Amino acid sequence: MGTRRTLWNREHALGRQARPAPERRCALITGASQGLGRALAEECARRGMDLILVALPASSLGQVAQDVGRRYGVRAACFVTDLTAPGSPEALVQWVLEKGFSVTALINNAGVGYNSRFEESTLRENEDCILLNNLALVKLTRLLLPELRRHAGAFVLNVASMAAFFPMPFMPVYAPSKAFIVNFSLALREELRPHGVSVSVLCPNGIRTNQSCREKIAAAGLAARLTCMDADRVAACAIRHTLARKAVIVPGLLNRVIVAVARFVPHSTVYAVMSAFWGTRIGRPEAPVAPPLPLR
Ligand SMILES: NC(=O)c1ccc[n+]([C@@H]2O[C@H](COP(=O)([O-])OP(=O)(O)OC[C@H]3O[C@@H](n4cnc5c(N)ncnc54)[C@H](OP(=O)(O)O)[C@@H]3O)[C@@H](O)[C@H]2O)c1
Repeated sequence: MGTRRTLWNREHALGRQARPAPERRCALITGASQGLGRALAEECARRGMDLILVALPASSLGQVAQDVGRRYGVRAACFVTDLTAPGSPEALVQWVLEKGFSVTALINNAGVGYNSRFEESTLRENEDCILLNNLALVKLTRLLLPELRRHAGAFVLNVASMAAFFPMPFMPVYAPSKAFIVNFSLALREELRPHGVSVSVLCPNGIRTNQSCREKIAAAGLAARLTCMDADRVAACAIRHTLARKAVIVPGLLNRVIVAVARFVPHSTVYAVMSAFWGTRIGRPEAPVAPPLPLR
């Protein structure tokens, strides 16, 4: 600090304009304790960004923050909270502002879903999906927007899914929750265009993250093996394209082909393919008798 001040004074004495130190970039990433969120944290840190990592209280988030911070020489703070709990996004943002963190990037990654017939789902599963994937994302974005707007080159990256492009049987709430994220992101992108905050939305196919995703991908056969990716590859692609200010990011050439071709296929055919694929290979298609009222 003392050294910096001395240099600054000397430059003024010489009548030269001191060049301000480049602003440190800092990314707030939800769902960063594992899976894609952790890979996104590593990719941001690799590019020199400080980190604010968020996940559930029982996670190993503190350890992840320490590891990533040390490995890449960046500052990494963490905040544990259940983002579906009432007042949780508000408490997170209040903490960020009280600590004086300068947030230049918001990555809304935390998300949950289930694979089953809607009839067999619980109210809790549906509620969590909407509260986390949609409400928490909207609240965090709204509350952090004034902070983001203060910084040149700020960005928001929202994590949706390729499921966003199709009404998907056996994912009847998850897929629409991701479609919401795509539409929200594209609308916000347009609103924020004059204000210098870029908004991108990531739509990956399957990613080999947690045990359940790995098992589903393994069980889904050749098609899944050809289109699913590892989290570090998805993260690298996501951050590269986000920094290039791309609107919709679909990692993997074959996945981009699928999305493009699906636009020209009749909806009835898409539903039939989805039903055959998801209904027979994963989920809980053969559950016994559904309870009259879904239980929490
Ligand atoms: N994996 C895929 O195949 C796939 C495909 C397309 C899109 N996506 C999307 O990618 C994102 C990440 O998926 P992933 O597979 O990496 O997930 P994951 O491995 O299950 O990790 C989820 C992360 O979110 C955190 N989290 C879960 N519920 C939370 C809550 N209520 N409040 C705060 N944090 C919470 C978890 O914390 P804990 O560690 O404490 O549990 C964890 O850090 C999701 O939005 C998902 O929809 C995934």
